[in-house]
Amino acid sequence: MNYYLAIDEGTSSTRTLLFDENFNLIDSSQKEINMIYPKPGWVEQDADELYFKTEETMIEVVERNNISWNNIIGIGITNQRETIVAWDKNTGTPLTNAIVWQCRRTDELINRYPAEFWSEVKRKTGLVKDPYFSGSKIVWMIENVPEVKESYKNGNLKVGTIESWLTFKLTGHHVTDVSNASRTQLLNIHTLNWDDEILNTFGISKDILPEIVGTAIEKGFETKFGPKIYGMIGDQQSALFGQRSFEIGDAKCTYGTGAFVLMNSGVIPPKPHPGLLTSIGWKIGNEVIYSLEGSIFTVGAFFKWLKDIEIINNYNELEIYSKGIDNAGVYIVPALSGLGTPYWDSDARGLIIGLTRATKKENIIRAALESVAFSVRDVIDSMQEAVWTKIKKMNVDGGATKNKLLMEIQSDLLNAEIFVPDFQEITALGAAFMAAIGSKNLSINEIKNLQFSGIKIMPKDNEILEKNYYIWKEAVLRSKGWIKS
Ligand code: G3P
Repeated sequence: MNYYLAIDEGTSSTRTLLFDENFNLIDSSQKEINMIYPKPGWVEQDADELYFKTEETMIEVVERNNISWNNIIGIGITNQRETIVAWDKNTGTPLTNAIVWQCRRTDELINRYPAEFWSEVKRKTGLVKDPYFSGSKIVWMIENVPEVKESYKNGNLKVGTIESWLTFKLTGHHVTDVSNASRTQLLNIHTLNWDDEILNTFGISKDILPEIVGTAIEKGFETKFGPKIYGMIGDQQSALFGQRSFEIGDAKCTYGTGAFVLMNSGVIPPKPHPGLLTSIGWKIGNEVIYSLEGSIFTVGAFFKWLKDIEIINNYNELEIYSKGIDNAGVYIVPALSGLGTPYWDSDARGLIIGLTRATKKENIIRAALESVAFSVRDVIDSMQEAVWTKIKKMNVDGGATKNKLLMEIQSDLLNAEIFVPDFQEITALGAAFMAAIGSKNLSINEIKNLQFSGIKIMPKDNEILEKNYYIWKEAVLRSKGWIKS
């Protein structure tokens, strides 16, 4: 038997999943990644920890199943996007902690560039002015970390997003794939090259950036273990692919650390919409598929926070406490790291409003659950406005889809069918598919023919939720700009 390895390096953990040739999941190994919060709003991770824990999961899954590395047909990497690593090209040593996508440290820095620059950036890269993306994080590192500055001057600096860092450590090649590159704010999504004008304005030399390849890589990159990396794709695009969103208008939502709604936009970049992002979905051979995206920063991270402050003891309680109860006028805006789509407000902060003496813990938990569904509705409203089409069905994946109540609320609010596939490792599956396509063992048509079982949730009329959504939008307005007030 032959196998594929999918490395899924997410924000909170790194995992390796072993799939057989028919894409049955055989085994997986997972290690938690430590988060570092040096200051409010700053988020870092240890790049060495990311790599070594990934390597450990690869070895563990192969050894535990008594498989020879020769039986691995190919490796696919999928990863948290935008997070950036700086390292020395000779030693392969990180020069500072990775700056994680959630980090808001470049909030002020981005204001030094004029509005005209940001409208060019939006036109060329599909991304908005926000500290979320890698470009301003690289500028910050070069200006503020003496080791990075020195290495830049000496011509020894390499930077890359997580797939690039892992591939460098595993193969010695400094490469990135076009889906991850499209999240740096340095890639021109029309030419698929690094954009010279944006690099000049940021003061970033092209020499420190990786070479750009497709998401399915025919030549592959040989790893230190032998098998080649044939696929690399950002995790949200991988989920879009794994959900088999192959037709224009097909949409998915992944409820992970954040929630990310992506829609297949076909081979031509969609007309820019102020609140939405355009990225590269995937590139197979010469065909490029664009995706339209709405990003919500804090979803699983918000539930984790509820657990950290002991409002809930475990995630099942989110459903247990919320069932059969209303929000009693309580609204939550889960903007712990600012607001993403459609507001792009870094200064927004989380808010709980509508508390009275009668408020119960259950109402707060219900409001937390609803806040996630309202946030996704907000994104879908923007998408429908952008594409002038009603979304009738959305495929979902990620931890929170286990919460049936949340999925029902979501379906009612969107007035759309929600499909929850039984197989939930969709992001990793997307990367395994990409490795199989890169290694010429699979075609998109064959993927279409695979059977996916799952649960269909159909919408019900829910006037109260609909009314509450508009009240929640009022609460969002109050959370905006909070840290500047
Ligand atoms: O853009 C950030 C995203 O890629 C993070 O994904 O799975 O860690 O929530 P996840």
